[in-house]
Amino acid sequence: MDEIVSRIAETLSGTVRVPGDKSVSHRALMFGALAAGETRIVGLLEGEDVLATAAAMRALGSHVERRDNGDWHVRGCGLGALAEPDDILDMGNSGTAARLLMGLLATHPITTTMTGDASLRSRPMERVLTPLRQFGAHFDGAAGGRLPLTVSGASQPIPIEYQPPVASAQVKSAVLLAGLNTPGETTVIEPVATRDHTERMLIQFGAEVTTEVLEGGGRRITIVGEPELTAGDVAVPADISSAAFPMVAALLVPGSRLRLNGVGLNPLRAGLPETLRDMGAHIDEENIRGGDGEPIADLAVTAGALRGIEVPAERAPSMIDEYPILAVAAACAEGTTVMRGLAELRVKESDRLAAMAKGLAACGVDLEEGEDYLIVHGVGTPPKGGATIDSGLDHRIAMAFLVLGMFSREPITVTGAETINTSFPGFVGMMNGLGAHLAPA
Ligand code: S3P
Repeated sequence: MDEIVSRIAETLSGTVRVPGDKSVSHRALMFGALAAGETRIVGLLEGEDVLATAAAMRALGSHVERRDNGDWHVRGCGLGALAEPDDILDMGNSGTAARLLMGLLATHPITTTMTGDASLRSRPMERVLTPLRQFGAHFDGAAGGRLPLTVSGASQPIPIEYQPPVASAQVKSAVLLAGLNTPGETTVIEPVATRDHTERMLIQFGAEVTTEVLEGGGRRITIVGEPELTAGDVAVPADISSAAFPMVAALLVPGSRLRLNGVGLNPLRAGLPETLRDMGAHIDEENIRGGDGEPIADLAVTAGALRGIEVPAERAPSMIDEYPILAVAAACAEGTTVMRGLAELRVKESDRLAAMAKGLAACGVDLEEGEDYLIVHGVGTPPKGGATIDSGLDHRIAMAFLVLGMFSREPITVTGAETINTSFPGFVGMMNGLGAHLAPA
């Protein structure tokens, strides 16, 4: 297991582009694999999670190739033409890959077994199995709806209307993807809007997807089944969820100035910069571009004091992956930061509420943990640090504590740091290039 120690950083400065967006990368590979023709993907995240999706789409019959210039080319096998793989699909650490693929497989008349690493095998899958059974799919596996699972896709799928009980883009996407190879209209009603990369990209590939914004901010999304999906080019923005780590590091380490180029700023993902600005952060958006696909901008970040705030609970879906690093910012801010509506954090790559509460407490931070909340009492000066934190197979826990170590009075060591490669290959080198001191322990 890799152990990395993070010592107090120099002033962070420079211009970087963090790797491609994980959510967009998974979808680009999956939709390319279903489309007629060749899809070229520029800026694909080459993290382990996305490589698991690439391998799965190959095993299901499409041609997926990385060219020497870093572009990826996918020649699809056509909607409805996924081939039965001759081995188990191993989705590694990736809940997104597993759940979205379950949706696709649910309405293809093939039988597939899927597994994952210890983290993924402990995560709830019933949330997608419940609606996917309604299409006519069958699932066999251990009790409690955990991987490994065998899915037998429906040969004559029935379209459904479904209201997920949890705010989850993965559940929404699994249902919409099952609706792709189903005649008629499939509808998802989400009481709270979640990231809409699936809807945006499916439209780009030629599917008919309509979104009605409901009173109170929820959405009713309908997809017309059996579209002709047409291959095209996909440019993957830099991942806001990865940018979050250098962003917070630059806010905390005195004197830092950082430019983060080409960051995806989908409004349903942009909760962190908004929250940090509420805490007093200087984060400017420059060169805003994009359009129908995904909006992007360059972010200019300048260090400065942060103050504690009450984070609106309804903002949680737009920054659900950013709470570990937000908790680090809160630990270094002056005053109390209240974060509520966080039940979903308990079923991410690890129980992130417990991991942050335990790790921050070990670093000398005063906090309160509840079933679905975290309250952090910052004092505006660097925390003690000095702890050893186990990543627990969770890349964002690992990176959050390495960032805290850049500002703490004593170094912080993270064990199991190789998990960072699931979403942010090159994290250590990039941060050191900006002025951090991360080194093997
Ligand atoms: C993702 C959705 C989120 C997020 C995950 C990626 C996606 O999960 O935590 O990292 O790509 O759809 P939920 O939708 O289950 O909250």
